Amino acid sequence: MKIKKIGVLTGGGDCPGLNAVIRAVVKSAIKKYGWEVMGFIDGYRGLVENWTIPLTDQTVSGILVRGGTILGTNNRANPFAYTYDENGKTIPPVDKSKVAVLNLKRNEMDAFIAIGGDGTLSMTQKFWEMGIPVVGVPKTIDNDLSGTDVTFGFDSALCVATEAVDRLHTTAESHHRVMVLETMGRYAGWIALRAGIAGGGDVILIPEIPYTMEKVVEAVKNRDSRGKNFTIVVVAEGAKEVGRDAVVQRIVKGSHDSVRLGGVSYKVAEIIEKETEIETRVTILGHLQRGGIPTPFDRWLATRYGAAATELLSEGKFGKMVSLRGTEIGNISLKEAVGSLRLVDPKGEEVKTAIATGVSFGNE
Ligand code: F6P
Repeated sequence: MKIKKIGVLTGGGDCPGLNAVIRAVVKSAIKKYGWEVMGFIDGYRGLVENWTIPLTDQTVSGILVRGGTILGTNNRANPFAYTYDENGKTIPPVDKSKVAVLNLKRNEMDAFIAIGGDGTLSMTQKFWEMGIPVVGVPKTIDNDLSGTDVTFGFDSALCVATEAVDRLHTTAESHHRVMVLETMGRYAGWIALRAGIAGGGDVILIPEIPYTMEKVVEAVKNRDSRGKNFTIVVVAEGAKEVGRDAVVQRIVKGSHDSVRLGGVSYKVAEIIEKETEIETRVTILGHLQRGGIPTPFDRWLATRYGAAATELLSEGKFGKMVSLRGTEIGNISLKEAVGSLRLVDPKGEEVKTAIATGVSFGNE
C-alpha cells in the first residue's frame, strides 16, 4: 500500500508535548516521505464531524515549546458510542464509526495517527480492527500506560508537582504547619511518588498502597517529637484508605472513564489537624499539572515518538503504538498496550528507596 496522505488527531485530556508530536509527525511525513498531512480538530469528534485542517511546515512552525494542542482535544467523543447531536447537544450513544471511516475516505486519507491515552488508543485499536491503517502515540501525565516505560507529558507534570513540594517546604517551615499537596494521576501514584521523593515529602499516599489515618497521624507526630516542626504530605488523587474507595469529585457523562477523582487531601488534612492539633493546609494542584510548556525531556520524547509513528506507517506496521523501552524507541501492538494499567509496584525499588529515606506511606 502506497501512502500519500495521512491524518493526525489528539484525543483525551491534553498534556505538554502534544504539539511536539504533531510537529514531528508533520515534518517527518512531509520531508522524509513526501506525504500530505491533515489534522482532525478536537480529537475523535473532528473525525466524526469532518472538522479538518491542513498541516504544513508553516502550520507547525514554533509549536515545539507550546503546551496544549493546536488541534484541540475532546475527552468524551467516542465514534463507537457518540453522544453529540448535530447541534452539539448530548444524546444517548450512537455508533458513528462508519461515518468516521467515510470521512477518512472523503479526505483521501490512507492512514492516521492518534495521540492519546488509554481511552483514545482503545478507540484507535477498534479502527484497526475495522481494517483502517492506524498508529498510536502514548500520552498522559499519569504515566499509567502499560506497553511503554514513559508517556510524554509525565515529566512536565512531575516538574510542576516537585516545584510545588519545594515551595510548600519553605512556608510549612516558617509556620510550623502540615502541608497536604494533592496531585493528579487517576489510579496510578507516579506523580505523587516521584514528586514526593524528588521534593523530600515526609508522607506519600498513593492508590497502590492503601493507608490508615492512624499511621498517617503517627508519622506526623513522630516528626513533631523529633523536633521537625513541619510536615509535607503528598497525596495522589486516587489514594484510598484501607477498605475504602478513592474519593470521587464528579462524574463526567459520556467520557470513556467517567469518574473524576479529587478531594482526598481535605479528608486527610482534617483528621491530621484534629488528631495532632497542628495547623494543616491543603493545596490541590489540579490542571496546573497539565498546562504550560513541556520540559526538554517531554519535547525530546514527543519528537522521537512523532518521527517513530510516521516510520511505522511507512513500513506498513499498522495497529501499533510507539513506545519507550529503556532508552530505545520501539513499538507494541495497540491491543496489548491498552489492556492494563501500569501502576506503582508497592514492593518495588522506588517505594523501598522512599521508605529507606524515612518516607511514610501511611501503611505501617
Ligand atoms: O488523565 C489525565 C488527568 O489529568 C488525570 O490525572 C485526572 O484525574 C483527569 O485527567 C482529569 O480530567 P479532566 O480534565 O476531565 O478534569
